[in-house]
Amino acid sequence: MASETMTNVPVHVSMIMDGNGRWAKERGKERVFGHFEGVESVRACVEAAVEAGVKYLSIYAFSEENWNRPQEEVLALMGLMVKAMAAEMEKLNANGVRFMVVGNRKRLDDELNKTIDECMAMTAHNDTLTLIVFLSYSGKWDILNAAKKMAQEIVAHPERAEEIMSMGVDGFDVYLATAGIPDPDLIVRTSGECRLSNYLLWQGAYSELLFVDTLWPDFRKEEFRAALEHYSKRDRRYGKVK
Ligand code: IPE
Ligand code: IPE
Ligand code: MG
Repeated sequence: MASETMTNVPVHVSMIMDGNGRWAKERGKERVFGHFEGVESVRACVEAAVEAGVKYLSIYAFSEENWNRPQEEVLALMGLMVKAMAAEMEKLNANGVRFMVVGNRKRLDDELNKTIDECMAMTAHNDTLTLIVFLSYSGKWDILNAAKKMAQEIVAHPERAEEIMSMGVDGFDVYLATAGIPDPDLIVRTSGECRLSNYLLWQGAYSELLFVDTLWPDFRKEEFRAALEHYSKRDRRYGKVK
């Protein structure tokens, strides 16, 4: 569906990409096979997002808790990130996609961090779509980190303590890892699980949530468009009476 035919397009759509392992298992294959196939779904969603006029697409690719998976799966996922970024970046750049990674990058290895830096620098000027990959991310980590940054700022600038302590919730956004990124309008989770798994806990406070049974490797353009269609029928009230 082209942007001109769709009303009420969300600015920021976020995907909790779940079900890769089960998708592979259903086919009698190793879990990693599902992760590989899931990259195709990311590509399809990026294309569908650009076509629909979505400005921010974010994907939960690896949670802080995912570090507790077997080491071989973690290594395979990290290797896949490097490969996928290297393979996709020129096309993403040509299509005006700005690429960002948000998460606890201290836990990522040097090769991955270097690839991320290169991709972010190469695409920094683009503004058709911002693609944000949440990597080694958790909502609680983000909020705790933000609180620490705020505390550090007060220690470093005691003369500003009163001003900082009196700020409202919007003022806190600047300390989050997502500073500058609008809160997600729509969070979609695939694979039938109905939980947030420590994703955007602060930023998702008023997001519309959509849980679909489709496993992530089967979530392609048509499914993305259907999610936008669902969103367009939601009534966002923000606690008010309409
Ligand atoms: C999502 O698929 C990918 C990551 C969390 C990295 P899973 O690997 O969680 O697949 P299932 O949920 O076990 O099927
Ligand atoms: C959530 O999926 C994290 C990502 C999609 C990256 P998980 O498969 O890790 O979540 P749980 O363990 O089912 O909650
Ligand atoms: Mg899962």
